[in-house]
Amino acid sequence: MGELSSVYFASARSAADEAGRLQRLDGFYAAPTTAWLEQAVDFTPGMAIAEFGPGSGRMLSWFAQRTGPGGDVLGVDIDLSRADPPQPPVRLMEADLFEPAAEPERFDLVYARLVVGHLSDPDTAIARLMDWLKPGGMLALADLDCSSSVPVDTSGPGMQAVADAMTDLRAAMDASGLMDSAFGARLKTCMRAAGLAKVQAQRFERVVETGSDWARFQADNVEIIADLTGAHEAASIAAGFMRTPGAPYHDQALVFCTGIKPG
Ligand SMILES: C[S@@+](CC[C@H](N)C(=O)[O-])C[C@H]1O[C@@H](n2cnc3c(N)ncnc32)[C@H](O)[C@@H]1O
Repeated sequence: MGELSSVYFASARSAADEAGRLQRLDGFYAAPTTAWLEQAVDFTPGMAIAEFGPGSGRMLSWFAQRTGPGGDVLGVDIDLSRADPPQPPVRLMEADLFEPAAEPERFDLVYARLVVGHLSDPDTAIARLMDWLKPGGMLALADLDCSSSVPVDTSGPGMQAVADAMTDLRAAMDASGLMDSAFGARLKTCMRAAGLAKVQAQRFERVVETGSDWARFQADNVEIIADLTGAHEAASIAAGFMRTPGAPYHDQALVFCTGIKPG
């Protein structure tokens, strides 16, 4: 891994462009995320939930439906310019999650999706997130494991070059500090090492079709990654593959993980 990282997907892009990207991202991942949370979390009216790195803020509205008007739903992001305006009981705070907790031991649930794997020091990040939790509260994290993303049929014409380009892109992300492309695979181990109890993980894995909305969204991201890392040749091959309909590939896995702060 390279040194992180003021490098972020939003670097050198307008707030409007990044807001649109984050809304699309949430649209694609909302269904598996809410299915996981419904099954993992005992939502009760009036509970207190903090989301770190909410991006578009769309999940905050979903949490507010679960807590009802008597709940407390806090979104903490280093840059709130991409978030929708909050409606009660949602409130927003612009802060770096590495800072000491402004409201320690207040929350029943602390949640972050696609945040910790982008950070230079995920172990400290997890410890900081735990500081906001009540004893007995739950930390719920979701991060990517991109290591298994590859065309289904690597024996077809040009497919080995696509697989190699995907590998090169992951290496470029890791070397630049843009993200740890396999962090999701280590998430359970990191949460256990942080002292969380009853740590449980599940992987959201699927085969997707090139040319689909999702594949074209990924192609857009690949080009952003190329601009930030310089991996233009690999990006050109991978993005061209993703935009051309008709070929299945193994998608990046989204790893969901929960653990309980000992009380
Ligand atoms: C890839 S986006 C994920 C957005 C959203 N969680 C989702 O899954 O759609 C990462 C988010 O984390 C925020 N972020 C990055 N570093 C942060 C930090 N140190 N403290 C708080 N937020 C941070 C970014 O501003 C961005 O909104």
